[in-house]
Amino acid sequence: MTRDSDAPTRSVRMEDLVALCARRGFIFPASEVYGGINGFWDYGPLGVELKNNLKARWWQRVVRERDDVEGIDSSIICHPRTWEASGHVEHFSDPMVDCRACKKRFRADQLDDVGACKEGGAHDFTEARNFNLMLKTFIGASEDAASVAYLRAETCQSIFTDFRRVREVARQKLPFGIGQIGKAFRNEINPRNFTFRSREFEQAELEFFVAPADREEWFRYWMDERFAFHRELGLASDRLRLRDHEPDELAHYAKAAADIEYRFPFGWQEIEGIHDRGDWDLSRHTEYAGKDLSYVDDQTKEKFVPMVIETSVGIDRTSLALLCDAYDEEEVEGGDRRTVLRFHPSIAPIKAAVLPLSKKIAEPAERLARDLRRRMNAFFDVSGNIGRRYRRQDEAGTPFCVTYDFESESDGQVTVRERDSMRQDRIPIEGVAVWLQERIEA
Ligand code: GAP
Repeated sequence: MTRDSDAPTRSVRMEDLVALCARRGFIFPASEVYGGINGFWDYGPLGVELKNNLKARWWQRVVRERDDVEGIDSSIICHPRTWEASGHVEHFSDPMVDCRACKKRFRADQLDDVGACKEGGAHDFTEARNFNLMLKTFIGASEDAASVAYLRAETCQSIFTDFRRVREVARQKLPFGIGQIGKAFRNEINPRNFTFRSREFEQAELEFFVAPADREEWFRYWMDERFAFHRELGLASDRLRLRDHEPDELAHYAKAAADIEYRFPFGWQEIEGIHDRGDWDLSRHTEYAGKDLSYVDDQTKEKFVPMVIETSVGIDRTSLALLCDAYDEEEVEGGDRRTVLRFHPSIAPIKAAVLPLSKKIAEPAERLARDLRRRMNAFFDVSGNIGRRYRRQDEAGTPFCVTYDFESESDGQVTVRERDSMRQDRIPIEGVAVWLQERIEA
């Protein structure tokens, strides 16, 4: 029912999208009453539903549907040695320069768009110095070096440190994976492009452990699998691509890597990374923790450190891609314009809105909405004229509006309006839930 995601698409202006997100309560600045806090965002009633739908879909596809993947939910704060072993203490930094005149700090590799110096004249930059991007905190009563800890910079490190326990309790053999969804924190110097580069964000990561001989095959497998996932979300084919990393782009742990990129209004950008991490992580944690994280093949009795293929998707970045992709404006009958979010029904925050034509028939319509709510996120709206109510649902991306009118009482039917085509079908009330479910899951 949604627009053909292979059809050529037009681009949204970021300012229009940001305004819609705030107006309709998808996403707005965190601590807004204090003027916001740079790099932090809150998701409102519609935003949290969108994000939860995306996470549920990832969990379903990557964890639940597979018997070779287990899920975990680990703590955000890990033992500080974790980040020494992972290389983050040593390598996870950006080169920074300070301006001696205006005292502002900039990324040394992004000086082209820093603008003029507030003190007038040109910036007077210091030499570049490395600035670690991990967010620090202290554990316990004292704030000394011994009590330093970090908010995790990626969710995957606990997957490595939990590898042995999870493999044993789940009685898994190679190849198998461990997935988790959770918050990550990075002290980004220059948060920008709305939620695209934030200081607090969510990742959904899978670490898939394989025998050394199988790593290339599994790297290709997960690349294809993950690309298909984004297409199934409805992201347009002309805005999605896979890009292999050049050797000089590889992270310190990666042997090979590819990005799934989306064409945002501000250009092609990564939404997911697929990395061949080799045996870097398990070997390093073996060394730093002094615990053996190797694997013994029970057929060949060969002992080795498994190789890791990682898929790491940003939930916030993908939510932003879904919003950009869904946004459309069009002229409708009577010269009116409407803004419409053309989400795939399976990820739309609200699946159906029940709209009684008059307050006089609100009660049976509300009964229908209550019934639908047991199976899907349904919304009930009795206020305003029907055209205005349709527009509100178009802006929320609701794929179906169910109108309860005066005939509904006598013929036991309602009118279902489809968001994109605005086509209307008259269907029996008792069949509405199944009718909707079939289309949402299609
Ligand atoms: N464990 C590997 C890892 O963390 P990454 O490429 O640094 O790799 C993976 O991050 C994904 O996390 C990215 O593709 C992106 O979607 C998301 N991500 C990373 N930094 C982010 C930020 N500052 N704001 C929002 N999302 C971010």
